[in-house]
Amino acid sequence: MDFQLKTLSIAQAANEKADVLIVLLAAGTTTSKDALSVLVAQARTAGDLPDKAGKLLALYRAAGVAAPRVLLAPLGDGGPAAVRTAVLAAVNAAKGSNPKRMAIVFAGAVDAAGLGSAVLAAADASYVYTETKSKPEPRSLRQLSLGVPDAAALREAFDQATATVAGIELAKEWGNRPGNHCTPTMLAQAAKELAELPNVKCEVLGPKEVAKLGMGAFAAVAQGSAEPLRFIVLRYHGAPKDQAPVVLVGKGITFDTGGVSLKPAAEMDEMKFDMCGAASVLGVFRALGDIQPAINVVGLVPTCENMNDGRAIKPGDVVTSMSGQTIEVLNTDAEGRLILCDALTYAKRFAPSAVIDIATLTGACVVALGGVRSGLFSGDDALAEALEAAGEASQDRCWRMPLDEDYAEGLKSNFADVANVAGRAGGAVTAAKFLQRFASDYPWAHLDIAGTAWKSGAAKGSTGRPVGLLLNYLLAQSRKGGAAAKSSGKTQKAGTSRSRK
Ligand code: BES
Ligand code: MN
Ligand code: ZN
Repeated sequence: MDFQLKTLSIAQAANEKADVLIVLLAAGTTTSKDALSVLVAQARTAGDLPDKAGKLLALYRAAGVAAPRVLLAPLGDGGPAAVRTAVLAAVNAAKGSNPKRMAIVFAGAVDAAGLGSAVLAAADASYVYTETKSKPEPRSLRQLSLGVPDAAALREAFDQATATVAGIELAKEWGNRPGNHCTPTMLAQAAKELAELPNVKCEVLGPKEVAKLGMGAFAAVAQGSAEPLRFIVLRYHGAPKDQAPVVLVGKGITFDTGGVSLKPAAEMDEMKFDMCGAASVLGVFRALGDIQPAINVVGLVPTCENMNDGRAIKPGDVVTSMSGQTIEVLNTDAEGRLILCDALTYAKRFAPSAVIDIATLTGACVVALGGVRSGLFSGDDALAEALEAAGEASQDRCWRMPLDEDYAEGLKSNFADVANVAGRAGGAVTAAKFLQRFASDYPWAHLDIAGTAWKSGAAKGSTGRPVGLLLNYLLAQSRKGGAAAKSSGKTQKAGTSRSRK
């Protein structure tokens, strides 16, 4: 889609040639004598203009307005969350008429966060999946203009928002593709294509290289599948070479049957989304390539299928991870942590300032937090707080969960150094405790996106989360410069009430 940023007053917006014009109204917007302002004032006086974000007043062929359809969308408190609510409601309402050109104008002041929120919401509501439809209904929306009082002042925010949209849409696209259209090999090919972007490089390892590295846990998950595993290494270089990178690790299970510990049939199709962590890493790199921020980032994606087969791992099998720790695989459905633990060990070689893994890891996290907030786990307060702040700022929220050592109790094994599952209780936390054993040498955070990466039911589809959160974090780090990123490991406030060690 073609996004444009324009300087538009409400009077000028009336002349915009568009199929639909959405007017975002802050509370108490001052009204003047132009056609739209008069309409707004009349509607307000008559009590027909709602004030809650998400409510709309539709006008058709209003006198003095070029666009045939106008939606007046109040902004409630005017904050970025209200902008998102208002734009989602307006774009969804406008979709019925299959508009090709849409204009969204802010009738009043708007800041970078408000504009970014509008761009992301409009893109979110107009995304259409087409890849595996024989007669796809194409995304009818071709052009979206955003009108603000001063376009020049918001240009940078606008460019970042459109780059973020490209990243989110790449993540949605790969998340939505069915397992037979998104194999580990295809995912690796998509990553390689990102290396066409400036300062992005990609390297892909196969089964032989992974075996040579000693990634016995990752290889064990892949061994029941006819599809060969891939280990994707992406790099973005935007800062001096000696600046420590942030490493992102994305779970890339392209289909999770559960293996021998087979999942029930109902909704098993949704396990095609089990590579949404990986897709979010690809999406972040897509956006970094556009934005070119001053930061170094490494993306690691272990990707394979979790299948049931004569060669598949069995409950009770003991495998040796790259770290040397042996793992008793008590449940083959707890495969995400097995592929991630080897990637976390591999991450050490980059001497990272921080490592963040992103994974659709546990059904327990869906029970705990639903689809609203991703689970955040970290023993490093500075890193956790930066990620929490990034989540709030991007409306891609997360919630910090505990990591008390007591939660690791159930991972004890009589036959290996550690078991891959504990009991049912606290399943999201025990999974994080397992990962933490492999992330000891750098500041680490884990995002469990099992509840937030996709929607079920009628609106079934990938959300592209947490690309927004991750980009917000990385851009904030790039603004702080390398020094702040490097020191994040030393600002741990152990013993404070917020410490989760
Ligand atoms: N990919 C699943 C987690 C999942 C399940 C995400 C349902 C979203 C919805 C993961 O590999 C898994 O199967 N986890 C198990 C762990 C258990 C065996 C300890 C789970 O959550 O049931
Ligand atoms: Mn599983
Ligand atoms: Zn899984």
